[in-house]
Amino acid sequence: MAAGNPELGLELSALARISERAASLISRQKEVVVASHVDADGLTSAGIISAALDRAGVERKTLFFRQLDLPALEEIADLGPDLAIFTDLGSGMQSEIVGIGLSAVVADHHRPQGSGVEHHINPHLAGLDGATQLSGSGTSFLLARALAGAVGCRGENDDLSALAIVGAVGDLQDMAKGRLVGLNRWILDIGVEAGALSFGRDLKLFGKQTRPVFKMLEFSSDPYIPGLSGDEDACISFLKEQGIRLKGERWRRWIDMSPEEKARIASALVRRGLRAGLSNPQLERLVGEVYVLLAEQEGTELRDASEYSTLLNATARYGHSGVGLAVCLGDRGRALEEARLLLSEHRQNLVNGLKLVKEEGIVPLDHIQYFDAGDRILETIVGIVAGMSFQTADRRKPILAFAAAEDGRLKVSARGTQELVRSGLNLAEAISRAAESVGGVGGGHNVAAGATIPPEARDEFLELIDDIVGDQIRT
Ligand code: C5P
Ligand code: ZN
Repeated sequence: MAAGNPELGLELSALARISERAASLISRQKEVVVASHVDADGLTSAGIISAALDRAGVERKTLFFRQLDLPALEEIADLGPDLAIFTDLGSGMQSEIVGIGLSAVVADHHRPQGSGVEHHINPHLAGLDGATQLSGSGTSFLLARALAGAVGCRGENDDLSALAIVGAVGDLQDMAKGRLVGLNRWILDIGVEAGALSFGRDLKLFGKQTRPVFKMLEFSSDPYIPGLSGDEDACISFLKEQGIRLKGERWRRWIDMSPEEKARIASALVRRGLRAGLSNPQLERLVGEVYVLLAEQEGTELRDASEYSTLLNATARYGHSGVGLAVCLGDRGRALEEARLLLSEHRQNLVNGLKLVKEEGIVPLDHIQYFDAGDRILETIVGIVAGMSFQTADRRKPILAFAAAEDGRLKVSARGTQELVRSGLNLAEAISRAAESVGGVGGGHNVAAGATIPPEARDEFLELIDDIVGDQIRT
């Protein structure tokens, strides 16, 4: 059943069975509410389910939340829906969802807490890792696929696999191994078969589709390539040294290069990276598997899964989820134009955030390290900045980042490495326990998690989490 992944057959059929029951319930509704998370994975999740509902003739209202807390649940309950579909969130709030009296389907990949939701699709429930093997959008894709079956149009939603891959890449599920793994690979196979996706080894830098090659190199920040990043002249000379013609009819982009030219540049970049002391994880961020959306026009952000996910983050994280959702649902006019404007601001904010962390430094504790951005980095992107800063920081301790949240609370984002996870690190558990002790709420994944806490509790929270992480890694 799981093409190319026979070992995942059992897990897949378990999740498919739950999805079929949920889909059968959904197919009998006239109108539902969809509630999703404000990041690239959440947007693609909502896009997948919304498209599937539209195709199945079920009316829907789609809402987005930064986190699913009680006020969010009340807002949903006030709409009085016959059924609420939660995507990329909900698994951590089961008792509350049931408690507030909502009839619900949850398609999520965060670590489940509590119990009680009958129609609950989550990779953890099948023994899979929700941080690497299936994303929120992948879980939503399982549901969308089942819904096509339930309304007698089997296969109709297979094209939505492309959005599922964008969501998985947006949640960095390919980072652990430099390629997507687990059920994500099964989704990839479906996408290839449906003619929606292709994949292969390539440079992973941002801007392959859209920027002149020397600009792509100049703006590379993840990984930062010493001697090239931020230096236009150096990038131009580097390419010339490799015998690369910079201009044809227009400035040549990465996608305009021949395979031979691409190979020449890529190996020169790796040599340059090695000489400059880039670590293996950093080099893996330079070259690896990339995913192409075949239905999208060449030379646009949407053609590349990673650029697409960044474009979506640029809408959702700034309160414009509707714009991102419209793009996911196929608007290639005004919504895309607006998203592109937001993207250029987003990239500037990331650059400023990285600069700030570099200038102010990261404070080491015994088992963790942290920086506090105050109100100088937006709470909605502080997690991204933490992840990017972590690339060039000491990777033996997980990183925590603080930023002031809108409602006077303090946002915390935490990021670890797969190696630390193998040594016992579970950030979701650590952060939810520490947050709860100081009157906050948190959750997420073993390798990436977040919370909001009262600001005055910061130091107590740091001490708690330093101890918890110390215990996790020791035992
Ligand atoms: O916000 P940030 O990017 O740091 O979130 C990292 C992960 O932790 C995400 O998957 C997010 O959904 C999860 N999270 C959570 N509860 C919170 C904050 C974040 O489950 N209060
Ligand atoms: Zn997610």
